[in-house]
Amino acid sequence: MEGFPLSDHPKTVKIEFPLADQTCEVDYDDTLVDATFRYELPIRYRCERAVCTTCLVEVIEGQENLSPIEPREQQTLAAIKAQPNWRLACQVSVMGDVKLDYVPITDPRRKREE
Ligand code: FES
Repeated sequence: MEGFPLSDHPKTVKIEFPLADQTCEVDYDDTLVDATFRYELPIRYRCERAVCTTCLVEVIEGQENLSPIEPREQQTLAAIKAQPNWRLACQVSVMGDVKLDYVPITDPRRKREE
């Protein structure tokens, strides 16, 4: 996995939801769902397996500070014609500061293939 060398990475990283005016600090490499449990972040989730897309988030800043996209997540994002800066929170670990926004299941930008 890319990111900081083990000895150089920060102990904590900041997750910010500017549109919801919410910020928290989590441990380096925590998942967004872990953070949601602890800090009640504005992220909804269901399957936690990159299937339902309920947990879709838009990365406003810090895309490079998130874990790489694995094939299962990539397949699901492609199926809904996701924007390049959208990720499935249930598949993402945070390795640096990020700014995010939740993309509700009713967002008209979602275009699931028939
Ligand atoms: S919770 Fe279902 S895709 Fe993330």
